[in-house]
Amino acid sequence: MNRRLRLGVNIDHVATIRNARGGRHPDPVRAARLAAAAGADGITAHLREDRRHISDLDIERLGTEIDLPLNLEMAATAEMLAIALRHRPHAACIVPERREEVTTEGGLDAAGNLAALRPLVAELAAADIRVSLFIDPEPAQIDAAVALAAPVVELHTGAYCEAVAGAAREAELERLRVAADRAEAVGLECHAGHGLSYDTVGPVAAIPTIVELNIGHFLVGEAIFGGLDSAIKRMRAAMDQARRAATGERSA
Ligand code: PXP
Repeated sequence: MNRRLRLGVNIDHVATIRNARGGRHPDPVRAARLAAAAGADGITAHLREDRRHISDLDIERLGTEIDLPLNLEMAATAEMLAIALRHRPHAACIVPERREEVTTEGGLDAAGNLAALRPLVAELAAADIRVSLFIDPEPAQIDAAVALAAPVVELHTGAYCEAVAGAAREAELERLRVAADRAEAVGLECHAGHGLSYDTVGPVAAIPTIVELNIGHFLVGEAIFGGLDSAIKRMRAAMDQARRAATGERSA
């Protein structure tokens, strides 16, 4: 099995910098355009309840001004559902959200919230929006995605990225491998993301049952030093190299 690994570039933190001063600069839509030119396969943006980075206008503009598929990360709330149904992004990734958190700290407890999630997933699917659930790499959460008829899961790679290199990180990587294989075995498309960097992306990219990575904070941080174009191209190359090495495919 060898599928090209897609890269979704998360542009939230371009908006974080813009919002530090108000105004329009730097423009996340310009970053999305640049990401497309640098080889991104999709754009990911999280419209948070408190609008701390991406704004409603950003979502509208990403839908109308950018050709790449938009993956809207959203909490499972009535407000976000209405916004998703209005803009009809290619995909909606349901994430847990707590106002006081700095970033999305853990996966969605889909298994513990089946009743609340079922109508939301169904409404998004009925609007032709590809639903993904951002979950920790746990079998019960994958089974919950199946029960909810969500076609995609995104595995939270935060614990893997934060683990000390060595046995602890290898254990987290194994959890991701097992979860990704289980997702494929039950017919789900498997994505992964959160906290990935040049140092941590390779082993995740090498898991052949993962078809998409969503990466943001590190790329925007690296862009300060060498530009967004160069950061995305280097990440893309690291992903491709790891995938080729894992599948034994020769480079063209
Ligand atoms: N995937 C999901 C579902 C996320 O919530 C985030 C963070 O917004 C990412 C991927 C990207 O994480 P990072 O910005 O740490 O690369």
